[in-house]
Amino acid sequence: MNELQQVLQTALSQMQEVNSLHELEQFKARYVGKQGAITAFMQKLKDIAPADRKAFGAEVNQVKGQFEVALTEKKEHLLQEELNNKLATEKIDVTLSGRDAGRGSLHPVSLTLNRLVKLFAQLGFIVADGPEIETDYYNFKALNIPDNHPARAMQDTFYTESGNVLRTHTSPIQVRYAEKNTPPIKIIAPGRVFRVDMDATHSPMFHQMELLWIDQGISFANLKGVIIEFMRKFFEDDDMQVRFRASFFPFTEPSAEIDIYFAKTGKWLEVGGCGMVHPNVLNYMNIDPEKYTGFAFGFGIDRLAMLKYNITDLRLMFENDLDFVSQFKGC
Ligand code: DAH
Repeated sequence: MNELQQVLQTALSQMQEVNSLHELEQFKARYVGKQGAITAFMQKLKDIAPADRKAFGAEVNQVKGQFEVALTEKKEHLLQEELNNKLATEKIDVTLSGRDAGRGSLHPVSLTLNRLVKLFAQLGFIVADGPEIETDYYNFKALNIPDNHPARAMQDTFYTESGNVLRTHTSPIQVRYAEKNTPPIKIIAPGRVFRVDMDATHSPMFHQMELLWIDQGISFANLKGVIIEFMRKFFEDDDMQVRFRASFFPFTEPSAEIDIYFAKTGKWLEVGGCGMVHPNVLNYMNIDPEKYTGFAFGFGIDRLAMLKYNITDLRLMFENDLDFVSQFKGC
């Protein structure tokens, strides 16, 4: 009996040294497992004189019970300790400010396009669209650029195997829209265009915008009025000087190139082409040239964006370097 009490005392004092739940499992086995020190007393029962067996058995059970109560307490204590540890080491400070999610910004071409659409909407123009893979008919022929016309050589065209072209300008949208609609026609048509060309000021893909206004009585005065008003609004300069230089385009007659004056640098810069829609083109549009007149205007969106934001290399516009594009804020 004394021996049993001693085993219990040793067990209880050793239990205090146990530091983890894992260790506690092993410790438990040492006493009440199959080969455990307390279990061993149970097995001794058969050697005990029958008269003493009951008392002995009761004592062993009591010791075992005490051991298990202590074990449960210890286990709870270790669990609590583990939880406290976790709480201390995995603490989250919910009052800290969050990390910046890195909000994106619009590309300067998109910003410019959005401004263009807004500005021309104020002048009553709606947006029209057309395909990037275009037929020879819409890209050239219906724009009064017949086969062998030297104007075709001016533009280095990408051809598809099926004989179509990647549109070299947004002008084909004029014809596509006018075919399906009757005057008054007041559209702008922005989009990607493609030419075999690449250096600091040329890219094989770039953006253009086309404008078309057809109605009765439209004259060169309307052309000048719209373009001058637009340039001044776009560059936010009410006194900006705009110059129309006589030029040639197969789809307009008369035609002009448009220059704008930058007071800062004292330089005139060409920004686009324009003219009165050629009667041949009106015929391709199924619009009677005797009844209606109109003007067209085309320019490079990227070029306008570069002038607006002082960007000197066109390639920057298409490399999508985040350091570059994230400098532009707005909508
Ligand atoms: N399509 C011409 C080009 O890509 C630009 C242009 C010139 C468009 C005169 C026009 C225009 O509408 O009237 O170079």
